[in-house]
Amino acid sequence: MIAGRLDIRALVITTLLVCGLAGGVRAAEPLYIGAKFCRTCHSGSDRERYHLWLESRHGKAFDSLVGARKTDPECLGCHTTGYGKPMSESTSERDLRGVQCEACHGPGSEYKSMRVMKDPDLARQNGLWDVNREVCLGCHR
Ligand code: HEC
Ligand code: HEC
Ligand code: HEC
Ligand code: HEC
Repeated sequence: MIAGRLDIRALVITTLLVCGLAGGVRAAEPLYIGAKFCRTCHSGSDRERYHLWLESRHGKAFDSLVGARKTDPECLGCHTTGYGKPMSESTSERDLRGVQCEACHGPGSEYKSMRVMKDPDLARQNGLWDVNREVCLGCHR
């Protein structure tokens, strides 16, 4: 009886430790989600950003690539968003065409919720970048 209980406790503690460690290491990495998510809150209201962006050169940066250039890794790094970086499961490469919001504001998986977004400090703790000239120089060399 006692031995049985100890085993179960040991199992529970081990499980908690393993899950806790794995979760602590993995959960924090922000993923690229695509402008379609930002659009839900940053369009059609006093928070409008999406359509301004869509009509800008950044919004059309993928269209500038012609033919085989649309799949050329030499071009995609600056004409798409988060190229070669991890993206969320509900996002495809197609969703990340052009120089999108996250190319300047940082990958959004961890800050995109209303709870986090409403609080600028919390948003920064969850991956929202301060847009400085280093961000621009990443592509404008
Ligand atoms: C669930 C709704 C929601 C989504 C989704 C969302 N935002 Fe926001 N965002 C807000 C709200 C609310 C604010 C607070 C300021 C405001 O009301 O304009 C905000 C503020 C911001 C700010 C200003 C932060 C500051 O310094 O004050 C930036 C930049 C921003 N969002 C970028 C993004 C990007 C990029 C995405 C997509 C990756 C995104 N947001 C997705 C609701 C959202
Ligand atoms: C992910 C790469 C990337 C980042 C980051 C980026 N840009 Fe760009 N930018 C481009 C590309 C690519 C174009 C050209 C788009 C096209 O027309 O195909 C462009 C175009 C522009 C243009 C229009 C140029 C013209 O001649 O009309 C301006 C202005 C500009 N970017 C400013 C900025 C600023 C300011 C920042 C930082 C806040 C920035 N960019 C960040 C890639 C980037
Ligand atoms: C290091 C980042 C970077 C890479 C890599 C890159 N571009 Fe660009 N591209 C830019 C920027 C920034 C601009 C905007 C320049 C400006 O107008 O000031 C631009 C502009 C352009 C334009 C002009 C768009 C217009 O309407 O005038 C074309 C076309 C273009 N790039 C094609 C390509 C092709 C093809 C490749 C791959 C061989 C490529 N780019 C690789 C950053 C890059
Ligand atoms: C080329 C870089 C670039 C792209 C692309 C871009 N932004 Fe921004 N954004 C900036 C800069 C620079 C500012 C002004 C400086 C700041 O507030 O950090 C800004 C400001 C904002 C603000 C207001 C912050 C405030 O203090 O009021 C919001 C909200 C925002 N962007 C959301 C978006 C969304 C949503 C998208 C995509 C639809 C987007 N941005 C695309 C660079 C960019």
